[in-house]
Amino acid sequence: MAEELLLDTTLTKAEQYRQLLPQIEALTTGEPDLIANLANTAAALRQAFGFFWVGFYLVKDDELVLGPFQGPIACTRIRKGKGVCGSSWAQAATLLVPDVEQFPGHIACSSESKSEIVVPVLKDGVVVAVLDVDSDQLNDFDHADQQALEHLMKLAATWF
Ligand code: SME
Repeated sequence: MAEELLLDTTLTKAEQYRQLLPQIEALTTGEPDLIANLANTAAALRQAFGFFWVGFYLVKDDELVLGPFQGPIACTRIRKGKGVCGSSWAQAATLLVPDVEQFPGHIACSSESKSEIVVPVLKDGVVVAVLDVDSDQLNDFDHADQQALEHLMKLAATWF
């Protein structure tokens, strides 16, 4: 497969996701290595949208542990129910946070992160990882991100 992403930034965000997702699918199809697929997914999302931080936390025993990511260094371990990531894990639900300072218990890995979306990866109904996307702009995520990223995390679930 081509190792360059086709990205048309004149499209709407929803259209850009529609252009990007099949490319991530092509990039990961036939590749059995979980880390390779998570790494390319994080890279593709950051390359396409220029997010401040994109990465995965993997459920290991009773904690989330930092997995493949793109962006500045980040907290390594997050406990269940803590921060946005730990809350998404505990609730097995996507959390959209327009202003991280308004989220009780938000874990600030960087003061530049202003808004955030966290989407769980569910395998047979159990959370095995979460995707965390951070923006340096307030209110940067909406239903279009949620819908596309939830769709993408259904694909990601097949890698586990
Ligand atoms: N802000 C997250 C922690 C992870 S970093 O943003 C990369 C949280 O509150 O769970």
